[in-house]
Amino acid sequence: MRNKELVREALEARKQSYCPYSGFAVGAALLCGDGTVFRGCNIENAAYPATNCAERTAMFKAVSEGNTDFREIAIVGGPKGKEPKDFCAPCGVCRQVLMEFCDPDRFLVLLCKGDKTWKEFTLAELLP
Ligand code: THU
Repeated sequence: MRNKELVREALEARKQSYCPYSGFAVGAALLCGDGTVFRGCNIENAAYPATNCAERTAMFKAVSEGNTDFREIAIVGGPKGKEPKDFCAPCGVCRQVLMEFCDPDRFLVLLCKGDKTWKEFTLAELLP
């Protein structure tokens, strides 16, 4: 799968975001070695620590379906109902969960603004 398609998957995933408290909608698309893509969105809760980020939703879906061979993730976030204007980087907890399953020098993180603009980082660059 090309990066552009993975970014589009993240934008689709974002539409399912449940974010009534922050109003900040995030979508993620996780590409696995066998070509499977797992989508995730943020799922908030009135008790804030119970909130799950989009990235972890995608990762936990993958692991719970038996897939731990992670290759690349696209992430897109911004105010709900609006086109994302800024790059949304994964939080520390999500970076740590990625580290559990990825080779930090090979795994790619795509931070996206829209379906045409994204920046690429290795996990090692985001979690030195
Ligand atoms: N959030 C994510 O889902 N992923 C990120 O990379 C950053 C933050 C969510 C958590 C919360 O629902 C909202 O965005 C505001 O922080």
